[in-house]
Amino acid sequence: MKQQQQLLVPKKRLNMYDIIYADPPWRYDSNTVPPNRRIENHYSTMELDEIKNMSIPASDNCILYLWSPAPLVLQALGVLSAWGFTYKAQMVWDKKKMGMGYWFRGQHEVLLVGVKGDVSAPPQGKRIRSVYRETRTHHSKKPDSIRRLIDEWYPDKSKLELFARATFMGWDVYGNEASTFKQTYLGNIREEASG
Ligand SMILES: C[S@@+](CC[C@H](N)C(=O)[O-])C[C@H]1O[C@@H](n2cnc3c(N)ncnc32)[C@H](O)[C@@H]1O
Repeated sequence: MKQQQQLLVPKKRLNMYDIIYADPPWRYDSNTVPPNRRIENHYSTMELDEIKNMSIPASDNCILYLWSPAPLVLQALGVLSAWGFTYKAQMVWDKKKMGMGYWFRGQHEVLLVGVKGDVSAPPQGKRIRSVYRETRTHHSKKPDSIRRLIDEWYPDKSKLELFARATFMGWDVYGNEASTFKQTYLGNIREEASG
């Protein structure tokens, strides 16, 4: 198991952000997961309360995009609320390939949307369907197209990715593996997201 590393979000807030995009290292009950399939074989995870108690540098008017695995939606909604956001909507990412699972063979994850203060939904002509299909690649890696879509919706807002594994132009990132993947910021979001 990888060692827990220091949380990189500063206690003293340096900047406040209008958009927070987060993919937390959720910890599963180890009794329910065989040793060879544990997330900790890939990266360190956090207790739910540790995630809830994080100091989130959200501006007064902020949108949160929070990834949740299907079995942890209830916990993720608790995090969204603990971070000061009100739940608004969700999108389902269909990974096109099934994985493991008890009740279902998991093929999707959920992107929850929470809001704080006075914020606007994406421009009408740029909204995408609530089901997004893109084949999964590396373990836990979310589609880069989602980040680019947020950029297209909110080009002028300040953006922070929590638990990032790469750096992206125009985004501040925090994460103890923030340089794991090479930056992949090229491409056309409209083609990828609207298909
Ligand atoms: C679910 S993964 C993020 C995957 C990423 N969204 C992607 O698409 O590649 C969670 C990340 O949080 C990192 N992490 C775990 N504990 C952390 C901590 N205390 N502080 C900062 N990052 C941490 C993990 O190492 C891992 O890189």
